[in-house]
Amino acid sequence: MARSATPWLPELPKLNLKAPVRATSLSEWALLPLRLFLGVTFTFASLQKLANPNFFNAASPASIQNQLKGAAQFSPIHALLHPMLPYAGTIGMVIAYAELAIGLGALLGLYSRIAALGGAVLSFSLFLTVSFHASPYYTGADIVFFFAWLPFIVAGSGSQLSLDGYLARYARAKKGIAASDLVAIPFAQVQLVCGKFKQNTCSALSGAACRSDVCPVLLGSQAPIATAVDLDMVKRRQVVLGGVTAAAVATTAVILGSTTAGLGKLIGGAKSPSAGNNLGGATGATGATGSGTLVGSAAKVPVGHAATVQLPGSGDPGIVIHVKEGEWLCYDTVCPHLGCTVGWTPGSAVLVCPCHGSMFDVASGGVIGGPASHGLRSLTVKDVGGNLYIQ
Ligand code: FES
Repeated sequence: MARSATPWLPELPKLNLKAPVRATSLSEWALLPLRLFLGVTFTFASLQKLANPNFFNAASPASIQNQLKGAAQFSPIHALLHPMLPYAGTIGMVIAYAELAIGLGALLGLYSRIAALGGAVLSFSLFLTVSFHASPYYTGADIVFFFAWLPFIVAGSGSQLSLDGYLARYARAKKGIAASDLVAIPFAQVQLVCGKFKQNTCSALSGAACRSDVCPVLLGSQAPIATAVDLDMVKRRQVVLGGVTAAAVATTAVILGSTTAGLGKLIGGAKSPSAGNNLGGATGATGATGSGTLVGSAAKVPVGHAATVQLPGSGDPGIVIHVKEGEWLCYDTVCPHLGCTVGWTPGSAVLVCPCHGSMFDVASGGVIGGPASHGLRSLTVKDVGGNLYIQ
């Protein structure tokens, strides 16, 4: 029986030799659509917040103040959120700019692991505060975003269409070192196709034993070899270039964010349902007295308009709508879904929740659409001699 040339290796099947699959490159392209989607989404979400003055206007149901109030009521970490309520505006600004930094980082593939870590932390925070009660759980987007960021924390952006990849290649090329995206193949396969390998010896090494660490085919003069010092310099060059690029992108992001916020204020922001003026309690109310709690003067709410009010008892935000002469409606505007404050645009037949789009019938408060499982709590409001009383 003929002796195998490589007795220490298991018998290999007959190999069908062809050009190696560029597995590394393919895997780098594979994550690109997801990275671009996350980058575009986070950038858009940030600019949308910055361009919308209602997001920072505590009187608007769509404001960060009202969303945080809702979260402080329903979130599993509500105890942590209560002390944050006075800083809601600042928190909204931090969230908007964090989203911008994360989105641009993902979009450009710059410091991708850090951007992905930021995206995962932000998504998980939003999951705990905003979408924790989404049912079934997979209908809440934040938990999905959280898991979508994880591959980029593990693997980075990949080198395709990415500034991280470009800077790494540039730094290596400057040092005369080949790109690092090499394709790994078993050494036994190299031996099989190598004309210098014979019976465990290498004719290029004057008949010495064949070994991968001294293989002249792998370490030949044609192959650019990187020393530890070279790689250290490449790494340093990469860090400096990455830092300069990140500073340029951060400056652009701040200019972009501020310009968007300025334009939003100038144009008046996205149209969002509101509830009109605040009734302001008993201040200014005069005349006859009635049963219930006096919440303000009826003269402040013309027919077809509404006003916000703090509801007696629960302290929840509420809305008083003057439907027609002598006819009033009052609802608790805490959305039964996840606690955002529902708003109403005069003339509209529905009250709309700005968070996930639940809609409620103005006439009854019943739910018409969206994730809310039931309608708004209705209260009785009466005009007694020009004063509004809620019972
Ligand atoms: S809080 Fe989700 S629809 Fe209102």
